[in-house]
Amino acid sequence: MKSDILNHFDTIAEVFNRIWYFSEEYKNFVIRHIHHDLALTSDDTLVDIGGGTGTFTRRLKDESGAIKAYCVEPSRPMCDEAEKLENITALCMDAHTFMSTEIPFSKLLLKEVIHHIDNRERFWQRVYYQLPDRGKLLIITRPQHTAFPLFTSAKAAFARNQPPYELFESQLKACGFDVISAKRSHTFTLPKEHWHEMLRHRFMSDLGIFSDEEIEEGINEIDGIYSEETIDIIDNLIFITATKQNGKPV
Ligand SMILES: C[S@@+](CC[C@H](N)C(=O)[O-])C[C@H]1O[C@@H](n2cnc3c(N)ncnc32)[C@H](O)[C@@H]1O
Repeated sequence: MKSDILNHFDTIAEVFNRIWYFSEEYKNFVIRHIHHDLALTSDDTLVDIGGGTGTFTRRLKDESGAIKAYCVEPSRPMCDEAEKLENITALCMDAHTFMSTEIPFSKLLLKEVIHHIDNRERFWQRVYYQLPDRGKLLIITRPQHTAFPLFTSAKAAFARNQPPYELFESQLKACGFDVISAKRSHTFTLPKEHWHEMLRHRFMSDLGIFSDEEIEEGINEIDGIYSEETIDIIDNLIFITATKQNGKPV
C-alpha cells in the first residue's frame, strides 16, 4: 500500500467515525445489502479487509452470529479503534499480508478499499484459492465520476484514483468467479457546515493532496454552486458480488 494513503488514514483515525456521515439510516442501508449480497449466516467466518475502525465489521458479526469476524486494517491508529470493539478480531496488516497468513474464511468484504490494494490480480487468485466452494467476496466501490458535491479539482483527483469498476468485474471473472453487480444509491442531506468540516478533515484520501488554502478555495467554489443552508450528498455505490462455484477451475 502506498505510504501516503496509509499516513492519510493514520491522521483521520480518531475523527473517522464522527466526520464520515454514518447516520443510522445510511449504515442500515449499507448493512442490509451486505447481509443480502454476502448471504451471511452463523456458519460464516467474515473478513473485512480495510475494515477501518471496525464499525461495520462488528455490526455484521453481531447481526449474523458469524463464527468469527476479522477487521483487517493496516493503519495502526485505525486498528487501535477497532481493537476497542468486542466480538471482532482486529489485525493490523494489509490485504496481501492477511492472505499470506492463510487464516480460513468463507466471506470477504472490501468496502471502499479496493482502489488502495495493489497487485489485485494476485490478490483475487489467492482469495479464490482460499475460499471454500460457494464462498463469496463483496466489493463496495464507487464510479469514477462522483456525484458528491466536491470542487472541480477534487472530482478530478477522485477519478484518477478510482479504477473503473468494470476492471474488477473482468478480473474476477477471469479468475473463475461468478460475478453479479448492482448499482445502489443513497442520498442524505447535511447542514453545509458539516460537509465543510468533512472536507477540511479530508474525509476521503483523494483530498489529502490539497493544502488548507486549496480546500478553502474549494469550499468557496462549492458555496457558489449550492446556495441553500443544507446540501444533498448523493452516494452512488456499486456492489460487486463474486462467488466461487463448485467445480470451476482456478
Ligand atoms: C475509506 S476507508 C474504509 C473503511 C471501512 N471499510 C468503512 O467502510 O468504514 C479505507 C480503509 O482501507 C485501509 N487500507 C488502505 N490500503 C489498504 C490495503 N492495501 N489493505 C487493506 N486495507 C487498506 C485504510 O487504512 C482505510 O482504513
